[in-house]
Amino acid sequence: MIKKKKSYGFATRAIHAGAAPEPITGARNTPIYQTTSYVFKNTEHAERLFKLEDFGFIYSRLTNPTVSVLEERLANLESSRAAVACSSGHASQQLAFTTLLGNNDHFIASNKLYGGSINQFNKTFRNFGWDCSFVDPDNVKNFENEIKDNTKLIFIETLSNPDGSIVDIEAVAKIAKKYHIPLVVDNTLATPFLHNPANWGANIITHSLTKFICGNGTSMGGIVIDCGNFNFLKDNKYPGLSEPNQSYNNIRFSETFGDFGFAMKVKADTLRDLGCTLSPQNAFYILNGIETLNLRMKKHSDNALIVAKYLQNHSKVSSVSYAGLKSNKYYNLGKKYFPYGVGSIFTIKLKNGYKACVSMVEKANLLSHVANVGDTRSLIIHPASTTHSQLSDDEKIKAGAGPDVIRLSIGLENVEDIILDIDNSIN
Ligand SMILES: Cc1ncc(COP(=O)(O)O)c(C=O)c1O
Repeated sequence: MIKKKKSYGFATRAIHAGAAPEPITGARNTPIYQTTSYVFKNTEHAERLFKLEDFGFIYSRLTNPTVSVLEERLANLESSRAAVACSSGHASQQLAFTTLLGNNDHFIASNKLYGGSINQFNKTFRNFGWDCSFVDPDNVKNFENEIKDNTKLIFIETLSNPDGSIVDIEAVAKIAKKYHIPLVVDNTLATPFLHNPANWGANIITHSLTKFICGNGTSMGGIVIDCGNFNFLKDNKYPGLSEPNQSYNNIRFSETFGDFGFAMKVKADTLRDLGCTLSPQNAFYILNGIETLNLRMKKHSDNALIVAKYLQNHSKVSSVSYAGLKSNKYYNLGKKYFPYGVGSIFTIKLKNGYKACVSMVEKANLLSHVANVGDTRSLIIHPASTTHSQLSDDEKIKAGAGPDVIRLSIGLENVEDIILDIDNSIN
């Protein structure tokens, strides 16, 4: 006899969550709804949709059936309440921050982030009047020390780009909770298969879907996920969520929509006005990628561990920053937060410094020299001169992207082929 299960496992949900056969044709895969608009039943129906009194489709800048399946699937995989997809990972950060921050507000971010995010926070976001303090996340007290009256969010990457370091998320979440500040977590490099930030106290999750979640380097995409566990009505600190909204009959988003009020505000207000929409075609490619996420992430992590072990004994390599190695300072955090492996992005330092890095990148053959991570293919780059090039020398070092550092994104090829190519390019 088959026993009743409380909820489906990850692999089942990665294939089915949010999707159902298309009711008219019976199409089993989610169709690409390549349409900008949707015929209303009558004027009353249109009016109710525009007032957010009914859920439904109005215009594809805001809602589209293919994109909705993706949103529901990722909210499910992240053990969260609701999600809003958008055109890129950077757009997801823009959407989350615009929804939470007002002019002259402040936020705190880890200084170990993707270089593009450091740049976005340090330059463009400052132009919006948002002030950022970057802190070393290895000592979580640094977050608490920077909290001010106008601090409106704390931002970390679970696994950092480029060096795969790990933040003690539970400890940071405790601080955020103590001061009633949402913890926003970029879970791009981990994906919900390796790590679920919502289970450790995160309130909002962002992703670049461009990376492992899509998985094969075909499509740009991003998503903002509302974990449904932050009370935005307390203290009136987030007026966009707690005060009447004139566009929508003076509803208060957090009051009307409760634990998915943040997601509704992101979609109905911020996405509506910023317009960084995900195309249905890209949503379709990304959905197909998600179906194999658990298989791919396990294999990525297994391959990366073998490569990292090989490199730690290599005569030309001075260090390997992979949290799966027992010698790595994040090893214990990895064991706690990443039961299935610590992903496949890490850095190595070459003994012969910058020149050796340039030579390695140029000699690599199977490994592609590209500005991307999280592809089926193995990838290589010199972050200091590319992805992290806009940072100051000091910021580069703090972000783990010094001149002697190479970033690897280990793919799904035969691991002995990856090692051979790395070996040929280092020598
Ligand atoms: C960890 C991380 N977050 C966010 C982004 C930005 O994503 P996108 O390029 O999709 O805008 C990247 C891009 O490399 C990333 O590595």
